[in-house]
Amino acid sequence: MGIGIHWLEGEQELAKRNSCIITGHYESESAATLFHGDRLQLLEEIPDAAAGLIVTSPPYNIGKKYERRLSFGDYLKLQRDTLRESVRILSPKGSLCWEVGNHIGKDGEVFPLDIFVYRICKRLGLKLRNRIIWTFDHGLHCRNRLSGRYETVLWFTKTDNYVFNLDPIRVPQKYPGKKYFKGEKAGQYSCNPLGKNPGDIWTIPNVKHNHVEKTSHPCQFPIELVERLVLALTNRGDLVVDPYIGVGSTACAAVLHGRRAAGADTVASYLQIARERVKRALEGELRRRPLGRPIYQPSPNDRIARRPENLSRVDSVQPHLFATA
Ligand SMILES: C[S@@+](CC[C@H](N)C(=O)[O-])C[C@H]1O[C@@H](n2cnc3c(N)ncnc32)[C@H](O)[C@@H]1O
Repeated sequence: MGIGIHWLEGEQELAKRNSCIITGHYESESAATLFHGDRLQLLEEIPDAAAGLIVTSPPYNIGKKYERRLSFGDYLKLQRDTLRESVRILSPKGSLCWEVGNHIGKDGEVFPLDIFVYRICKRLGLKLRNRIIWTFDHGLHCRNRLSGRYETVLWFTKTDNYVFNLDPIRVPQKYPGKKYFKGEKAGQYSCNPLGKNPGDIWTIPNVKHNHVEKTSHPCQFPIELVERLVLALTNRGDLVVDPYIGVGSTACAAVLHGRRAAGADTVASYLQIARERVKRALEGELRRRPLGRPIYQPSPNDRIARRPENLSRVDSVQPHLFATA
């Protein structure tokens, strides 16, 4: 048999595997399940204790085009239902991460969703391990309060014996090569040469117009945010579930690192984009912002950072912060 025939057989095998690799219903063998419908219907298909990680950013009940605005009480009831089913499918060593911002009442009152989610999860028997602050520079500019520039990720576990891999998510120290210069340890590294713990404040750009991952979805989260959770809280082959998957950012983060994924969304067009993105991720062709890329810092010399000359006399208590054109 010639080499060419071997190659052809391999290709056919790959094509066959790829066709069943993304499924519309949960199958333990598929690389990704992208379910069209309500999150509870998908969760019902997943057996007890099957998921290593459940990570999501649910609707915030703020009137986005994919949600119906409900009373705050009714909204919390839906969240409770999702969380209860999620806990059922969570493995004893597993983690649940709920990424939330604020619900804003009609009169502008702010309701930090993590406070409410925390209470629900505590009643469901989960234990909080970190309240991660995800901070970013861009977003709406508020007129009657300070502009919101962070959201939170509540990380819970089901038991005290949970997966936590710190090494894959370490970040460089400020002085990475620093060594002890005297004493018994002289010459040895004074800090972990693999890097330091990234801490619980994560600065990661949110997905706005010029972000490489931007799709038509109004509120997708960045893949690198989920990648950190996937790497730290699961092992290869584990199942990562997102009950509100949108355009599939969670599934991309999971399959990029050899984990299986499952998620639901009620909007067919988002799932179509999700399928395309997951397929590219599986083929190693997904365009994304790589984990750990430094944040771009504009310098005062950049034209865009300068105040126009005719506005330079506007009262400011911090004129030194602005260059003028
Ligand atoms: C904040 S977005 C999640 C975006 C996602 N993290 C991403 O990066 O694409 C919330 C998603 O929940 C979906 N959704 C709303 N109600 C749902 C339901 N009952 N079941 C499943 N998905 C739902 C919306 O269509 C929306 O895409």
